[in-house]
Formats: sequence, structure tokens, C-alpha cells
Amino acid sequence: MLKNKKVLLGVSGGIAVYKACDLTSKLTQLGADVKVVMTENATKFVSPLTFQALSRNEVFIDTFDEKDARKIAHIDLADWADVAIIAPTTANMISKLANGIADDMLTTILLATRADIYIAPAMNVHMYDHPVIMENMKKLAGLGFHFIEPGAGYLACGYVGKGRLEEPLTIIQAIEEHQKNFELLAGKHVLISAGPTREVLDPVRFFSNRSTGKMGFALAESAANFGAKVTLVAGPTTLDIHHPNITRVDVVSAEDMYDAMWRYYEEVDIVIKAAAVADYRPIETFDQKLKKQGSNLVIEMERTKDILQSLGEKKTSQYLVGFAAETNDPIEYGIGKLQKKHLDAIVINNVSSAGAGFGHDTNIVTYVNKNLEETHIPLASKEVVSVQILQKIVEDMKDDRP
Ligand code: CTP
Repeated sequence: MLKNKKVLLGVSGGIAVYKACDLTSKLTQLGADVKVVMTENATKFVSPLTFQALSRNEVFIDTFDEKDARKIAHIDLADWADVAIIAPTTANMISKLANGIADDMLTTILLATRADIYIAPAMNVHMYDHPVIMENMKKLAGLGFHFIEPGAGYLACGYVGKGRLEEPLTIIQAIEEHQKNFELLAGKHVLISAGPTREVLDPVRFFSNRSTGKMGFALAESAANFGAKVTLVAGPTTLDIHHPNITRVDVVSAEDMYDAMWRYYEEVDIVIKAAAVADYRPIETFDQKLKKQGSNLVIEMERTKDILQSLGEKKTSQYLVGFAAETNDPIEYGIGKLQKKHLDAIVINNVSSAGAGFGHDTNIVTYVNKNLEETHIPLASKEVVSVQILQKIVEDMKDDRP
């Protein structure tokens, strides 16, 4: 994927600069055209000559070192790059980028470029955990910067922990994997519902379920990373999401979710209904707190609308994907829902298996399409599972094309 790509490699000043030499060499061997931009501090660790020899290109350090009068070097490099990688990225570099500071050649280029920017941090474990750095990384991720998380292990400062620059080969693999997915959903509008719904009884009580929204939020983030425009209809959850491609619509009850989904349904290409919608709500609700009585309390509930079923019945060109939360006979019940709700695919979730379902950071699912082809997605983080679900959807949509 990186063959013939124009790669701008930014090197900021930390002990891991020596690994950037290997990264330059590996990128060049892959056939990428690599231009290295170093900060002044980076040159204290490794001589620019090393990068020049490995990249077979001039190395850039000083913004005012304008060699060609016909060009402005930092703008020329910013426009030239297809991909920018910053490895290692120091805590200082992260904070400068998060605040739009452009006080040297590298930060000036990064502010001016429209290329995808990959950040591979490397720093002391306490620096990495520092709330200011965490906050800045979150901000950058929300602005569309891509992070290649540092590995855990022995750090040059003597600590053992997270902060070690990821290995050059892993950095390259992560970028290639990401670039591969990047265009998969370009031009598509994806509508995703996530989280529980809340059915109010009185001002202090409601009925809900254990869903946290993690799976739906991971799907929204991944779909946005795949280039889609995403509308995320979220039930009550504590999760945050920041991505330039995502519009979040907050709802509370099943009825609110029904309205929100229908508001966007006709204009979208793909719908993923990951939300755990309440099936029942109290028939009677109270404006004032219900006082306890001597006898038992009986609350009569009525059915909410089945949102997914209603979408399935009026489906035109949308690719409609449901979720099934099951505790027993998951495949059988899941396929039943796929057929009854007129879906194109269903993601079946055995919520009682270890590491799967509500509240966990991981999941195990079986994806079944309308031809009843089953794909098992084994235990992995919800982010990884979401990427695999989206890859399956894209694959099936291609097969469906006349
Ligand atoms: N769903 C929905 N509206 C409802 C209930 C469910 O849109 N009122 C959707 C969910 O978002 C999910 C799918 O239907 O995508 C299956 O939900 P699930 O809770 O597994 O099943 P139910 O259809 O509610 O059936 P049951 O509770 O009997 O298993």
C-alpha cells in the first residue's frame, strides 16, 4: 500500500529517534518516497546525515533554510505528502499539535498539510499517563489524527510501562491496514443506533437495560474512519465521541429513538441497529414521585414500537443490519430475527459468554447475512470487532450489486 507513496516522516526529539532510522529504511525498501523532517532536538540524538543516506533525500530542519527561491519549502512539503508519520512523537510535539503551535519546520508543515497524519508516541510512562497529554491526545484523535499506540516494555528512562515507540514494522502494518480501509465507505451515509433506551416511570425512576453503548460507538468511530458520514443516534450513555465525520443525536426513550431513526432513514445507505431498545414501557407515568404503599406494586407495561422491524418493512435501498442479544440458542434466535425483520445481516451476540456483551470492552459475535452465511468473529476489542463487521458489510454490499 505504501509503494510509490510520498511519505513525510517527522522525527521529534526523544531517545527513540534511532528506531526512526529503521522505519526510514523499511519504508524506502517498500518503495515509498520518504522525506524526513527533524526537529532541532531530534538532531541531538541522530545526525541528519543518517536519515539523508537512508531516505536518499535531503533532510529538512530549519523553516528558514529556503534552498529553492521558486518554492516555499514548508508549503511545498505539506502539499507533496500523501501520508505524514511522526515517529517518535514526543509529549511536547503532541501538545504543540493539539494547540496549533507552528514554531519549527515540522509543526509548520503539519499545520499546512492535508495528508493523513499518523502519530506514534514515545515518552516516559508518567508523561504518557499525564492528564494534559491524555487530553491533548483525545483532542487530536477527535480532530482526525491517527494514533499508533506505544507498546509496553522497558523504557530508556528506566521505567517499565507504556510509552515505548511501536516497532517500525508494526507502525507500517498499522498504517497499511488503516489506508486499506480508509476509502471503503467514502461517499456513504451510515446511520447507527447505540446504547440502551430509558423508559420513565416517574421523576426518579425508569426502566432500562445493561447496554453501555460501547459496541455502537466503536462502529460509529470505525465507519467514520472508513470515510463514511455517520449519524449516531445514542441512548443515555456516559461515552464521548469526537470525530469530524460523526453527528451525534441524543435520545432517551424507544419512542425518541424511533423518531430519530426515521428522520434520517430515507437518506442513508447503511443502517446498523446496535442499540438495546426497551421492549416495554410503563402504560402509566407519573409527574410526581410514586410513594410506597403497604402492598405490592404492580406496574402494567405496554410494548414499544419495534424500530428495526418498521425499518425492515419499508426498506428501499438501505443495507439494514440488526443486532441480536441472546443468552441461549443464539444462532437460531438470531436468524429468526434476521428473517422476521427483513434484514440484510444480523450480528449475533451471546451476551452470557465471557468477554462478550453488555459493558465489556471486548466482544465475540457471529455475523450472518441474508444468504445465511455465518462469519464468526472471535474475542477481540469492540474496536477490532467493529472493523471486521464493517468489512463484512462492505463485502456483502459488493456481492449484492447487480
Ligand atoms: N430492536 C428495535 N426495537 C425494539 C426492540 C429491538 O429496533 N423495540 C432492534 C435492536 O436494536 C436489535 C434487534 O432489534 O438490532 C434485536 O433486538 P433484541 O433485543 O435482540 O431482540 P428483540 O427483537 O427485542 O426480541 P427478544 O427481546 O424477544 O429477544
